[in-house]
Amino acid sequence: MNINFTNLYKLIPNKKLLFYKINNLLRNNQLVGGKEIDNFQKEFSRFVNSKFTIAVANGTDALEIAIKSLKLKKNSEIIVPANTWISTAAAVVANDLKLILCDVNLDDYTICLSDLKKKINKKTSCIIPVHLYGNPAHMLSIKKIIGKRNIKIIEDCAQAQGSFINGRHVGTFGDIGTFSFFPSKNIGGIGDGGAIVTKNKKIFDFCSRYRNHGAIQKYDHKFIGRNSRLDCINSCLIREKMKKYSQVLKKRKTLAKIYHKNLKLIKNLKLYNYQKNFSYSYHQFVIRLDRDRDELQSFLKKKNVETMIHYPYMLNELSFFNYKKKLSNCNMLGKKILSLPISEEHSVKEINHVCKLIKLFFNK
Ligand SMILES: Cc1ncc(COP(=O)(O)O)c(C=O)c1O
Repeated sequence: MNINFTNLYKLIPNKKLLFYKINNLLRNNQLVGGKEIDNFQKEFSRFVNSKFTIAVANGTDALEIAIKSLKLKKNSEIIVPANTWISTAAAVVANDLKLILCDVNLDDYTICLSDLKKKINKKTSCIIPVHLYGNPAHMLSIKKIIGKRNIKIIEDCAQAQGSFINGRHVGTFGDIGTFSFFPSKNIGGIGDGGAIVTKNKKIFDFCSRYRNHGAIQKYDHKFIGRNSRLDCINSCLIREKMKKYSQVLKKRKTLAKIYHKNLKLIKNLKLYNYQKNFSYSYHQFVIRLDRDRDELQSFLKKKNVETMIHYPYMLNELSFFNYKKKLSNCNMLGKKILSLPISEEHSVKEINHVCKLIKLFFNK
């Protein structure tokens, strides 16, 4: 059995309807902005239950613009977990603010609360928890740690469409939530795409202008801004995927349960520790092995099962971030983790087959 990590073509639902809708957009010359994007923003606000959504060109821009909108003090510090996609940290540097990397916990790989407590100081202006792999960061505890201090929160929800804490969608606990619609995300577009959500009208107004050269209407520029708009054709697919998303989550949950049931008794393999009040979007199913990770990956490859590593390095290991402090849980983490195939297009049979192979590897 040949099992790919993802098949982006297969993940596009109802292609006939989509091509029909795209054709309509082309016929009506509706390619940038307009009703299509207004509808996307309304529907996405409903999807996460946030007051406002601003569609942007990608998840990296969403982070950069979100930080800019907060108008944080010069030379202040932003705390970011070290296990995340490079954009979360790069967006801080792009805004000329000081990047402070924080350790992650080994239960779900989100920001480590005890290290966060140590990293917060008078210069801290913002924290960017990342809901990595679709696992919600512990937002209620983070807010408790912040207490009455004037520290803003931007939630990086790039991997967490459909992740909830106590029934509330991630991205709505802090000041701003940012999302990515990169094609391999749970709700992935035809190309790059992103969104910012907030309940704050001032932030909404700033971001709406900033992503369009400082203008809302044609030629009504109030400041410089930049071009970071979501294309209409892409919005069209994202909206279609949103409609079908509850089925997608259900399928991903079924497959994650199979992994859990089959792999939980393997001594040298660590799984997520799920929280009772969290709902997960199962963007990645990541296992951890203190040794033999590369051997397991090669074994699976020989058996035609594709796996990936998210991520092979922690951000403190990238020399250009120039971050010298030690992060104990992150130490060698990139050499221990392995992402197993999981998507709505994988069958129960395929995931059972992957489990069988992993058990075989450990019984050798
Ligand atoms: C955690 C995280 N943040 C930010 C991004 C950036 O999103 P984009 O690729 O749409 O710029 C990604 C995308 O991989 C991500 O996984």
